Amino acid sequence: MLAARQILHENFEKSPWLRRRPNERNVFYQLMVRAGDPFDRILGKLAEHGVEAVDLNLACDAPEIRACLAGSALFNNLDALSQVAEQCRRHWSGILTAKIRLGDETPEWQKKFAERVRVLEDSGIDALIVHTRFFREKFKRRARHEFIPWIAANARVPIIANGDIAGPEDVAAMADNLRPARAIMIGRHAIVRPWLFAAWDTTVQIDHTAVWHRMCDYIEEDFPPEVAFRRIQMFTKYFAANYAFGHPLRTTVSNARSIAGIRERATSFFAAKPRVVTRPLVAGV
Ligand SMILES: Cc1cc2nc3c(=O)[nH]c(=O)nc-3n(C[C@H](O)[C@H](O)[C@H](O)COP(=O)(O)O)c2cc1C
Repeated sequence: MLAARQILHENFEKSPWLRRRPNERNVFYQLMVRAGDPFDRILGKLAEHGVEAVDLNLACDAPEIRACLAGSALFNNLDALSQVAEQCRRHWSGILTAKIRLGDETPEWQKKFAERVRVLEDSGIDALIVHTRFFREKFKRRARHEFIPWIAANARVPIIANGDIAGPEDVAAMADNLRPARAIMIGRHAIVRPWLFAAWDTTVQIDHTAVWHRMCDYIEEDFPPEVAFRRIQMFTKYFAANYAFGHPLRTTVSNARSIAGIRERATSFFAAKPRVVTRPLVAGV
């Protein structure tokens, strides 16, 4: 998620948030937007740099995002939402999507949800990504994909279902609920298993140690050391879910003091040939 206004001050060749590797294609630039943002200039700059797709974040419920009247606060404010969606569409001719949740868990949530979907559709948005949880649930309980058929039946745009999908087995197990969606989006499990999509319908031999190091190389290449340090710790927290006993990897890396220290500790964890699980579990963030 990129703070939309900040894009005006960033350099596309240098910014770790904006630049892409030549082999990266079809990257969505997700924006934290709010009413009054200079969308003509922001979206103009993205177009100038060859960005193909923009997603509006209307799902984030973090207090600092709400305080900016963005994310879930923008979703809840129908007038501001309508203004933002309409202006984004006016100034962006590429693919435009919005990421939403179910809203606030109140008895009339479906009515409010449908109103907002209508506003987004009327603005000319191309598709909606729905994380089927309520805002205040954060990552608790489970995603409620049983609402996808209702959402898709009442929407004129394609629906992309998101939440708690770990791979093809989950898609098969939830097929009845997911079928009305046009696509799925995977978040946390794609961090746990970055090869997930390559291995979707074929068998791929994975060298876990090599993948972990390659990810760390990319992160170090992209970010200044202090940011890279925290990102590698966060990635490792997810990656540890690949192991039957991944807890020592998580804790040893979270107690390290430097990137070199992280690499050293992870290397000795991998050297013990820890047992890999076929179905990693993630819980919360
Ligand atoms: C560490 C972390 C960072 C996230 N950052 C974003 C974000 O910037 N924008 C967004 O729309 N969702 C973000 N999400 C939410 C995911 O996109 C996704 O909606 C959520 O994790 C549920 O899907 P999953 O069960 O496949 O992970 C984030 C989630 C996690 C765990």
